[in-house]
Amino acid sequence: MITKNYEKILIETKKYVKNYMKSYNDISHDYNHICEVVKLSLLIAKKEGIKNKKDLFHIKMGALLHDVADSKYEKKNSQYKVINNFLSSLKQLNKIDKKEILKISTKTSLSKDTNINFNKKNIKLYIVQDADRINSLGSIGIMRYISFNIINKKNHSFTEIINTMKNRTNKIKQFLKTATAKKIAKKHFKLIDIFINNYNKFIIK
Ligand SMILES: [Fe+2]
Repeated sequence: MITKNYEKILIETKKYVKNYMKSYNDISHDYNHICEVVKLSLLIAKKEGIKNKKDLFHIKMGALLHDVADSKYEKKNSQYKVINNFLSSLKQLNKIDKKEILKISTKTSLSKDTNINFNKKNIKLYIVQDADRINSLGSIGIMRYISFNIINKKNHSFTEIINTMKNRTNKIKQFLKTATAKKIAKKHFKLIDIFINNYNKFIIK
């Protein structure tokens, strides 16, 4: 019964998120990004030994909703309020699941993260945070930085994009929390470092 409810909730949430992401009109934060974060979250969860259906449901829901009403795009309403309203509309969702999903989906943002320590009780949140951060690295990450800056920043320049990429990548290096994500991220950090160094070497100053 629980599994059936979870399936129904996931179908409804995917529909809602797919539609919501369209409103950003930004390929750096579209439904593909969400699908990549969900997929990577589940991979990290598996490697971190998470098997419980309830925990995996929380992770999937948190990953699906993590960019809904993100403060970069939504200026009027808080992310917590928008996600809370959506979750309240899901009749089959119980209070405990709702609380867990809210905790994960509204705390993914790197810019608001000040904690570099690992605490086992927050592992589901860390998994989604790490998956989202890894999607800012490697070739996908590079393309996402470029498209985000061109779409959203008025005075964009290559150097500004490279600086944002460099600063954010340095922060991600400090803020990845799970051992699995740290291992996966290694090759992606390498690629982004090569890209930044190559740019800095050849740009005319
Ligand atoms: Fe994201």
